[in-house]
Amino acid sequence: MVDGSAPKVPSSRFLHRMFAHPSGFLGHLGGWIMGLSNQDIAQWTLEALDVQPGDRVLEIGFGPGEAVHQLAQTIPDIQLYGVDASSLMVTKARKLNRSRILSGNIDLRQGTVETLPYPENSFNKVFSINSMPFWEHPVPGLREIRRVLSPDGNFVVTVQPRWAKNDQEIQTITEWMEENLSSAGFFPMNAELRSFEHIPAIRFLILAPPNNLPSA
Ligand SMILES: C[S@@+](CC[C@H](N)C(=O)[O-])C[C@H]1O[C@@H](n2cnc3c(N)ncnc32)[C@H](O)[C@@H]1O
Repeated sequence: MVDGSAPKVPSSRFLHRMFAHPSGFLGHLGGWIMGLSNQDIAQWTLEALDVQPGDRVLEIGFGPGEAVHQLAQTIPDIQLYGVDASSLMVTKARKLNRSRILSGNIDLRQGTVETLPYPENSFNKVFSINSMPFWEHPVPGLREIRRVLSPDGNFVVTVQPRWAKNDQEIQTITEWMEENLSSAGFFPMNAELRSFEHIPAIRFLILAPPNNLPSA
């Protein structure tokens, strides 16, 4: 199942408007919940990314902007960029990160992973948390990430499928992520599982992707 929506993503309209493409009142509520509940998984993701002073970092699907905020507070001397499809999340994340946006260290925009508004090799670190299952076209999105990531760059993508009911569903989504990543030319990769609030999260770390895409 490559380049389709993730297996078993919740299809309820409520959850869609809260988390997948946050909008309206439900999007506000979803943003508030994500801000409170995703701090540990953000920290785990950022640990693997190994951000250093001077890095140029991009987050895809930043939601309410907590991970950007966390990172900017830990390592002030970096340039941080972000793209999220939801105008509501862009407003919320800009509000949370206002002072560093004003000082020119952070740039958060509305857009999608499938069409990133940056030239190639713009970043040496890219990450994404709990967003990949909601991308309409994961493989083209991942190829876009490869395009903007420098050849010596790192990419970390983490997903905590809170909707998964058992280990088999966790395994299915892990395989789905791995298939999409390798179809986009991301290898070798390192996968790890860790539970937060008793719910497993999956983290893929890809170091220095090769330059050439595999032939179609
Ligand atoms: C469940 S939220 C996660 C937000 C945040 N990363 C966190 O962990 O709190 C998923 C986010 O991905 C964004 N998103 C969905 N599809 C996207 C796409 N194709 N490109 C960029 N962002 C997307 C949504 O707007 C939403 O803010």
